[in-house]
Amino acid sequence: MPSEKKTTANSANRPIGIFDSGIGGLTVANAIQKELPYESLVYFGDTAHLPYGDKSPDSIKYYSIRIAQFLLQQQCKMIVIACNTASSLAFETVKSFVDGKVPVINVIDPVVDHVIRTGKRKKIGVIGTKGTIKSDIYAKKIRSRNSKLDVASLATPLLAPMIEEGFFNNKISRTVIASYLSSRKLAKIDSLILACTHYPLIKKEVEEYYEEGVEIVDSAGVVAAHVKEVLKKSKQLAGKKKPVHHFYVSDFTKSFEESTKYFFKNKIHLEKSDIWI
Ligand code: DGL
Repeated sequence: MPSEKKTTANSANRPIGIFDSGIGGLTVANAIQKELPYESLVYFGDTAHLPYGDKSPDSIKYYSIRIAQFLLQQQCKMIVIACNTASSLAFETVKSFVDGKVPVINVIDPVVDHVIRTGKRKKIGVIGTKGTIKSDIYAKKIRSRNSKLDVASLATPLLAPMIEEGFFNNKISRTVIASYLSSRKLAKIDSLILACTHYPLIKKEVEEYYEEGVEIVDSAGVVAAHVKEVLKKSKQLAGKKKPVHHFYVSDFTKSFEESTKYFFKNKIHLEKSDIWI
């Protein structure tokens, strides 16, 4: 039926909505752009409420719902919660708010799936914000798939604000990273999950700390591959045309602007959105 076909094509060309507290989710947006170069993106960085890591679950749920509402208003065909803290604390809430209108993707399930399916692991380390680690979501999900795996989780609350401020690949970041990673909790791990979407920006430094023998797993590529799979299955992949991206922030920050340019070159148009008013 031609009319149905038209609807599918139109809906497939709608953008993918992505959100995080700040620049972290850009690591996921960047990976999605590489995996799916024809997809238009609408990114929302909730810089007014950053960091999410030490906020209460109620606040994170409240912010996430409002952002999901904004992304639906932007006609997004999918919502990617590109934040571990919001994925840990607000995924179910966002899903019930969205009520099946579009798929909602979190950054945790694809990573758990990846570590379960690949490699020979015995002890997996997890580092993330206080909110993510307190929820214990990685350990619960990993152990529900393989009860023999040992999971050691460590909150590393200084890392996201440090990265957001542009402190990576320097002496200060290396010192902070080493201080966390030398924790006895993480002794003898064979894999380390970077359970915060800001952390791919320090992946190289983490790899350098371990030299070798510890696989560093970040969510960006794994989540992008999952997004592609979901869109493909539901026949929602965009047609071949130049994408249009929109980047919104709830508060202008210099670091957000610089990081957006770092990932997306000069193709960006940064807009401030007052969704909290
Ligand atoms: N990038 C986020 C995460 O994955 C949030 C960091 C923060 O705002 O504390 O958890």
